[in-house]
Amino acid sequence: MSLPPHHPLLDGRTGDSALVTAYSGTRPERLPVWFMRQAGRSLPEYRASRAGTAMLDACLDPDLASEITLQPVRRHGVDAAVFFSDIVVPLRLVGVDVEIVPGTGPVIGTPVRTLDDVARLRDLGPLDAERLAPVAAGVERTVAQLDRTPLVGFAGAPFTLAAYLVEGGPSRDHLAARRLMHADPAAWAALMDWTAEVTGAFVAAQVTAGASAAQLFDSWAGALSLADYTTHCAPASARVLAQARALGVPTVHFGVATGELLVAMRDAGADVMGVDYRVPLDEASRRLGGGTPLQGNVDPALLAAPWDVLEAHVRDVVRRGAAAPAHVVNLGHGVPPETDPTVLTRLVQLVHSL
Ligand code: CP3
Repeated sequence: MSLPPHHPLLDGRTGDSALVTAYSGTRPERLPVWFMRQAGRSLPEYRASRAGTAMLDACLDPDLASEITLQPVRRHGVDAAVFFSDIVVPLRLVGVDVEIVPGTGPVIGTPVRTLDDVARLRDLGPLDAERLAPVAAGVERTVAQLDRTPLVGFAGAPFTLAAYLVEGGPSRDHLAARRLMHADPAAWAALMDWTAEVTGAFVAAQVTAGASAAQLFDSWAGALSLADYTTHCAPASARVLAQARALGVPTVHFGVATGELLVAMRDAGADVMGVDYRVPLDEASRRLGGGTPLQGNVDPALLAAPWDVLEAHVRDVVRRGAAAPAHVVNLGHGVPPETDPTVLTRLVQLVHSL
């Protein structure tokens, strides 16, 4: 598969944007900035659009998903849009009983614990183009309106998705998932295969429909030892990253509390590493050998601090980011829902002035 000629990366719209330039390892004239979870509850216009619609239904309504994706771009002037969707959308699209419970997160009706359970997932059939149609339509509508601002497509990494499937919902230490990995390696491997397939199809659909970059979220990989990550998870993530890369878009790989895994996650096939707020960017760059573009890592907690404290922190992040070949400013995790959106707009203006 390759990108169609009218794709924004190929037809002159986003190929020389600040975001794609930085993701490709060259410093653009203007420092690019966007925020994970920039579309969401911090915006009153989001709360108004979402009112009365369940999260996953909103994700699968192409007009609504497109409108919500564009809201933070209009308001903040960020250098990228990130498609409004969720890592569990591909699960819903193949027919897994999954809901997003407000204030909790994804909850799975029937947790997956055995090889037979994984076989039942496979019986649901592949995530084909027909099932992905609402995602592709949402992306197409969005990029038609974004013009020269690139859209970032994304997917959950196999481990993070499997963590929800095995636990049945959010978990602190992901004990059930880590137990399965060792107690029944065959079931675990089959589950990694299946999640890699559906999450790979999800991100490939976004890229083909017009996303100019792909970010893989392995939010909960920080629960893993390096050995478990490398042996039991990285190969499946590598397949997903390779699929996006083969389409010709830059790939970003992000996890939370994954300072110990930075090199392994990069080596899984990422062009850019997303760094959470725990590891300073100069130290992250040192661990990665100095050749990997970085994205991050403003501490979301500081969005609620006095402006001079936040400004000093952002300047420090940017100074440390100079150690990498290129830097895209972002948060070290998602925008907290209670964030004052005017602070985000001011932060974008600050970054653009540096
Ligand atoms: O703006 C963006 O970043 C794009 C949209 C996006 C969402 N989820 C929308 C969303 C992205 C990239 C995600 C990824 C996602 N979803 C991850 C990986 C990133 C991360 O934060 O680590 C994870 C772990 C999930 C699973 C998930 N979905 C959680 C934990 C929650 C929060 C539940 C809650 O209410 O606290 C969701 C729901 C969700 N996904 C919301 C949004 C905007 C909130 C929905 C609402 O408005 O209630």
